[in-house]
Parts: sequence; structure tokens; C-alpha cells
Amino acid sequence: MVSKLTKPWLFLPPLWAHALSPLALRILHHITPPQNISWHALKWKNLFFPNPLGISGGIDKNAINVLDWQHLGAGFIEVGTVTPKPQPPNPGPILLRDTQHMALWNRMGFPSKGLFFVKKKLQRIKPQLKIPLFINIGKNRTTPIEEAHQDYHLCIKELHALADAFVINISSPNTPGLRTLFHPDRLPNFLNSICHTQPSSSFLLKLSPDLSQKELLTTLEIAVEAKIDGFIFSNTTLSRPLEGLPQEGGLSGKPLAPLSKQQLLWAKTFLKSFPEKLIISSGGILSAEDIQERLSMGAHLLQVYTALVFHGPFFFRKVSQVFSQPLKKGEINAH
Ligand SMILES: Cc1cc2nc3c(=O)[nH]c(=O)nc-3n(C[C@H](O)[C@H](O)[C@H](O)COP(=O)(O)O)c2cc1C
Repeated sequence: MVSKLTKPWLFLPPLWAHALSPLALRILHHITPPQNISWHALKWKNLFFPNPLGISGGIDKNAINVLDWQHLGAGFIEVGTVTPKPQPPNPGPILLRDTQHMALWNRMGFPSKGLFFVKKKLQRIKPQLKIPLFINIGKNRTTPIEEAHQDYHLCIKELHALADAFVINISSPNTPGLRTLFHPDRLPNFLNSICHTQPSSSFLLKLSPDLSQKELLTTLEIAVEAKIDGFIFSNTTLSRPLEGLPQEGGLSGKPLAPLSKQQLLWAKTFLKSFPEKLIISSGGILSAEDIQERLSMGAHLLQVYTALVFHGPFFFRKVSQVFSQPLKKGEINAH
């Protein structure tokens, strides 16, 4: 468990800390030296990742802090989820923190300033960005599920010149009906329409940790067939390994780790035949040991959200101090 005394933001209600963090990150950028962190560098397609640890979808939904995360030593950035039209968060409680179990619960539902706001922000900062940028895209809450593909197409059309890859998010549990796009009756048409009729880009699919092994393998088969370029395992879970949380909403952090790791293992076996597919692990990565474990399980890249809430924005620097040491033979599968 983390000590609140060394992490004063944990005394604040979670939504206050969430609302203040963009300003805090801007200030940190101006009062701390830049972290040029290089360990386990990776090249994928034409992209160079100086280290494999990036920020997860949902942290910088509107591309407000992209250069700040670069300054703090992230190896890559994911902005979004971006929706075509601006929309507010879901009504009611949307964020809870469980410090004892290192867990977060959220039912935000893609609050977004909309794709044109994000486009303008990214156009301004892109020349200063030295690390890969993924854009996570989703549908507006009011778009019927049968028309969801149109929202994704619009985001891709408007943002493709700015994205090094798109993350197709159909795995959030907080947009009603969104996960039904995983159904094998819907998924092939949906993914084919994205991968084959859009301006050429790289597309990554973010998975739900609540898929069974059979559902996951079916999804991967369909996605590989559609020529998806990589996968993120995984989004938040609707399952409740912890007591006392509302039934709806997604759980992340430590209790998500077993599900995320299980998916990575199942997927890794299937994806052995497709070594060019990018594999990203997300879910309950909270320490250097977790990072080491996921890399040794075959993840190429890693993402964190909950770790940044509990350990703070210097997490990238802290873990780099562990990984920048010369590795003992066999310690980690270097890429
Ligand atoms: C408050 C909150 C908001 C999130 N918003 C998004 C989002 O907009 N899009 C998305 O793909 N994932 C979103 N996620 C999921 C994270 O990207 C990540 O996959 C998940 O939290 C598991 O990683 P973690 O255990 O390191 O937090 C959100 C997570 C949290 C806690």
C-alpha cells in the first residue's frame, strides 16, 4: 500500500485530484529537468520507442499534457478516447479510488472535447513531439451502435495525419452497447471497414478483459484477418474481485492484473505465428517487477494509468532507474 504522506494528492477527493492534474503536470514541466529516458528501446514499423512504457488511454483525453508526459520520460503517448462530437461525462459518480487495494473504479463514459479540439491541439504540438503518438478513438454516446463505424471513420479521416497509430476502443464498459461490437456477427464488417477503406494508418485493437478464452481467440482471428496491426490487453473489467464497488463501471489497477496477464498469455500463444503484430500490456502494472514480468511474458510495450495515480508522475523516472542498470544475463527478454 502507498503512503499518503509522500503522495499528498491522495488526500484530495479523486475527482479533485483528477481535475487538478493537468495544471500540476504543466507546472512540473516548467520546474523539473527533462527526462530523456532510454531503456529497452524498440523499433516497430517506422516508429522508435526510446523506452517501452507509455501512458494509457483516458489519462490525456484531450491532448492537453502530451508534451508534459514526454518531458516526464514516457516512451510513447496515447491520447483519447476521442469522440467525434464533444460530450460530458456520464451523470452521477464517475471515479473512486481504493488505496488499500491499489485500484480505481470509473464510469466516465468518454468525456471528450471532441475531435476538432484534439486536432487543433495536436497540430500545434506535433513538431515538438519526439516519441510515438497513438490516438484512441470511440463513438459518441448518442450514436446508435449500428452507426458506430461512422464515428470511427470520421475520427480517422480528420486525425490520420497526426496519429502514428489509432487505438480502436470498443472495449470500454461505460458506453452502453459498445462491447457488442466484439460479437462475431458484427466485428468482421466493423474492422474491415476501418482497416481497408480508411486513409492508410496503423490500427491497434484494445481488448476487454472480460472476454472468455474462446471469445478472445475468435476476436484475434477476426482482427488478424482484417489486418489489425496490434493489440492492447486490456481495458478495465466489469468483474468484481473487490467487494463494495458499484456493479456498473470499470475496475483497474492491482485487481485487474490477473485478468490482463491471463489474456496476454492466451493471446501470445495465438500471436506466435504473427510476430509483426504489436503487443501492448495494460492492466495492473504498478512496479518495476510488474514491468519485468510483462516483458518476459512477451509484451512489446506497456501502459500505465493507475500506477500514475498512486505513485505519481515520476513513475517513468523511478522505473527507468531500475531498468537502465546493466541487465543480468537472462533477466529480461530484450527486444
Ligand atoms: C479514470 C479512468 C479513465 C479511463 N478512460 C479510458 C478511456 O477513455 N479510453 C480507454 O481506452 N481506456 C480508458 N481507461 C482504461 C485505461 O486505459 C487502462 O486500460 C486501464 O485502466 C488498465 O490499466 P491500469 O491498471 O494501469 O489502470 C480508463 C481508466 C481509468 C482508471
